[in-house]
Amino acid sequence: MYQYNEQDQTLIEERVTQFRGQTQRFLNGELGPDEFRSLRLMNGLYVQTHAPMLRVAVPYGLLASKQLRMLAKVARDYDKGYCHFTTRQNVQYNWPALETVPDLLSELATVQMHAIQTSGNCLRNTTSDHLAGICVDEIEDPRPYCEIIRQWTTLHPEFAFLPRKFKIAVSGSEHDRAAVQLHDIGVYLVKNASGEIGFRVLAGGGLGRTPIIGQTVKPFLEKKHLLSYLEAILRVYNLLGRRDNKYKARIKILVKETGLEKFTALVEEEWLRIRDNMLLDEDRIQSMKAHFTPPNYDPSAASDTSFAGHLAADESFSKWVKYNTVEHKVAGYRAVFVSLKAPDSPPGDITADQLDALADIADQYSFGEIRSTHRQNLVLADIKFADLYALWQKLDALKLATPNIGTVTDMICCPGLDFCSLANAGSIGIAKEINAALDDMDYIHDIGDIKINMSGCMNGCAHQSVGHIGILGVDKKGEEWYQITLGGSSENEAAIGDRLGPSVAKDQITSAITSILDVYVQQRLEDEAFLQTVNRVGLEPFREKVYANH
Ligand code: HEM
Ligand code: SF4
Repeated sequence: MYQYNEQDQTLIEERVTQFRGQTQRFLNGELGPDEFRSLRLMNGLYVQTHAPMLRVAVPYGLLASKQLRMLAKVARDYDKGYCHFTTRQNVQYNWPALETVPDLLSELATVQMHAIQTSGNCLRNTTSDHLAGICVDEIEDPRPYCEIIRQWTTLHPEFAFLPRKFKIAVSGSEHDRAAVQLHDIGVYLVKNASGEIGFRVLAGGGLGRTPIIGQTVKPFLEKKHLLSYLEAILRVYNLLGRRDNKYKARIKILVKETGLEKFTALVEEEWLRIRDNMLLDEDRIQSMKAHFTPPNYDPSAASDTSFAGHLAADESFSKWVKYNTVEHKVAGYRAVFVSLKAPDSPPGDITADQLDALADIADQYSFGEIRSTHRQNLVLADIKFADLYALWQKLDALKLATPNIGTVTDMICCPGLDFCSLANAGSIGIAKEINAALDDMDYIHDIGDIKINMSGCMNGCAHQSVGHIGILGVDKKGEEWYQITLGGSSENEAAIGDRLGPSVAKDQITSAITSILDVYVQQRLEDEAFLQTVNRVGLEPFREKVYANH
């Protein structure tokens, strides 16, 4: 894992000192709310329905156990004993008191954590594949490139006031687990015909009120040009992106309005001007890779026999292994998902006690590291076969072993009306209701891979437009209603879902979802996943059932 150097540490400490002064001047009345607004946003602090909300960066979703312990301490000392993992692998606190935020940030800085560039119209945290470095389908580990990008984006003077926020995602695998095509810039590590590894670069993806899939601007970019190419895209966007209308200010609108061909030509022109002065040399890449070398795997891990015995003897354990663990590239190891989707807790939330216990578990079983996923779960990446049974028992006791990863109850959900001042409708309560209606694990496992994404308004923080089932909160004369879409995906075959029909009332949304699942069960062919059935039969059978009942 990359360790911050002295320069990084100084930077985040100086930022805390600066923010302490700004907060003090605001509290003394020397700064007005408008003046303070941009200063607090530069430090991840939003003002929400009940209290300020603080977003803490988790670079490409990688956390050390000491950072987990600090997140727990902050949750206990400054919040209500819990925090929330977000759709961009970050952490949010919903209840810190404004006057305590400088102290909170100062504690986070002791473990190299901060909230810089987690809000505002700047380059945000770069996200990546939560199985980076360990998965079997990897072309190359994306994390060194994420870290190179993190360093380049941090306080980049030219891109501090972009037309809108800007998000980059990088994946190194054949299977896209990082929603790369829905980012302002998406980067895939790819191999060309002569076996050389480089990048495919996409631009213009994004969610929100106008969801658009990113398009390829550079099919193959040599590694040495990574930063110059990203810089060229950012320059074109910074210059030409619309600043007159915030709904048209994201790069997706620029690419759409300019046309891919012309946009690419503008980028190439800029790139030719700067590329020779911005080469990423091989030494830098190699020295960054040295921060992400594989841990000390046990060569005898594959000879374990206890795991097979437990699998055969304990059905609950074997179900958990099937749903919440995945293959690891090293024999004798698996990667484990820690489900933050227990039926009775808001998706993505975790308590301070759970965080502390997980930090101990990470130290004991997984080289002291944990990762966050964009579907609001956690991953212990390196678990030996021999440890899986004991680990499962511990996670189960912590309510972190619901065997539902990738199933219908593994929902992505935004804070909605419970916390967000922009919300039209609640989402956490609906997630709870859907969970209550789907309380039969055998049924959940039988219907398999179904991704429900639910946002409380069309800002789309919970990616509803790319959910297999998307649920969007809308306001109808002051009442909470829900618009349903079907057929979206954020993986390799990324797609924006289609609207099922008119929105449904709050007391009907759960039965609408269960009706959709019933239709799938009736219509599916053998071994056909939900998304395939939707794509094959179209929306009509779902429409008939949902609107017949309502
Ligand atoms: C104009 C206001 C807002 C817009 C347009 C907006 C839009 C978005 C979008 C499109 C995403 C994620 C999708 C992506 O990857 O691009 C996102 C992330 C998120 N938003 Fe918002 N959002 C807004 C305000 C808020 C507010 C006020 C909250 C407060 C609770 C919020 C909570 C979140 C959360 C939890 C995430 C995951 C974020 C992360 O970790 O970086 N958003 N937002
Ligand atoms: S989608 Fe809307 S309601 Fe949900 S967090 Fe984002 S802005 Fe708030």
